[in-house]
Amino acid sequence: MSHTTDRLGRPLQDLRISVTDRCNFRCVYCMPKAVFGPSFAFLPRQELLTFEEIVRVASIFAELGVHKIRLTGGEPLVRKDIEQLVSQLRVITGIDDLAMTTNGSLLTRERAQRLKDAGLMRVTVSLDSLDNDKFQAINDVKFPVKRVIEAIDNAAQVGLAPIKINMVVKRQVNDSDVLPMAEYFRGTGHILRFIEYMDVGTANGWRLDDVVPASEIVARIESKWPLIPIAPKRSGDVARRFRYQDGAGEIGVISSVSQPFCQNCSRARLSPEGQLFLCLFAQTGFDLRRWLRKGHDDSEIRRVIENIWQGRSVRYSEERSEQTVGIPKVEMFRIGG
Ligand code: GTP
Ligand code: 5AD
Ligand code: SF4
Ligand code: SF4
Repeated sequence: MSHTTDRLGRPLQDLRISVTDRCNFRCVYCMPKAVFGPSFAFLPRQELLTFEEIVRVASIFAELGVHKIRLTGGEPLVRKDIEQLVSQLRVITGIDDLAMTTNGSLLTRERAQRLKDAGLMRVTVSLDSLDNDKFQAINDVKFPVKRVIEAIDNAAQVGLAPIKINMVVKRQVNDSDVLPMAEYFRGTGHILRFIEYMDVGTANGWRLDDVVPASEIVARIESKWPLIPIAPKRSGDVARRFRYQDGAGEIGVISSVSQPFCQNCSRARLSPEGQLFLCLFAQTGFDLRRWLRKGHDDSEIRRVIENIWQGRSVRYSEERSEQTVGIPKVEMFRIGG
């Protein structure tokens, strides 16, 4: 296996695969109803990469140094038979971490068990508030918070662990939920991560005033439960980690806006229709599907991907400015979180 690095010396280690652009939620900061209403045209089925194509691309990425795969969306569990994809990805040589980011709405006990049996190692569940009214106002489809909590319990029961909980913090929307969320997940063994609201895509009308800086989040928690910083597990990890001094577990903060972490960014992103994106904030991707469907062999495609990665110099969050915030960027639901 080779180790491909980009122009800033960053290795290619993680592949995030968005398996669908569809989602059964309409989170106001991601797929606002006004834009993603009943007439919005999602990708037709034939545009999506097949499981066979996804596995083929993933295997080539593994040869180039990727050892970690995350399935995202949209909502990955709306893609039919996703367990089959999981089982095929699990056996690729070199892949030692296979995770999924989900909103939890479809994660019944049976589904969780099937995913575990197929080889999924862990899940990250998005949850922005424990307050039912507030949660329903955020997901905008009246989905009750109780069922997401049940989903987290289901995942824990079947051992899709360690479970991470992603909370996007938006000022005056859910910042008053920071402490209740911390309190609820302390001592559960789950890792709660606070994510600074980001200017992904263009549909959400992002403003800097909406961001609650990670330092403020940490200070608020610290005032109640003292924290001790802990070292990252691996270089390239996005979260800064802390543990509670009293032994109640771990939290993380993801400070993409206030303290960007592009320096170690080792993530490639594959969209549902087979576009390769080199950054969460990219304006365009590279059409890998065209290569897959044109009859090229694996070594040719591998060379294409290698060239693309070697030419990579993007570091959007470190260069973010008033000018960059408004430019057209790919939407979060297309390339996953
Ligand atoms: P682990 O595999 O558990 O380490 O997951 P992770 O830390 O990669 O976390 P996850 O995939 O859940 O990402 C958490 C959130 O961080 C995402 O939902 C995004 O909001 C943000 N994020 C992830 N990757 C990037 C990135 O490359 N750049 C930026 N700016 N934000 C990112
Ligand atoms: N800023 C930060 N995180 C976001 N997510 C979606 N949109 C944004 C945004 N604008 C998060 C979701 C989920 C993950 C897939 O990305 O809440 O946890
Ligand atoms: Fe769906 Fe996740 Fe976007 Fe919410 S944040 S609309 S759950 S993809
Ligand atoms: Fe990586 Fe782009 Fe995020 Fe920077 S902004 S960490 S380059 S995905």
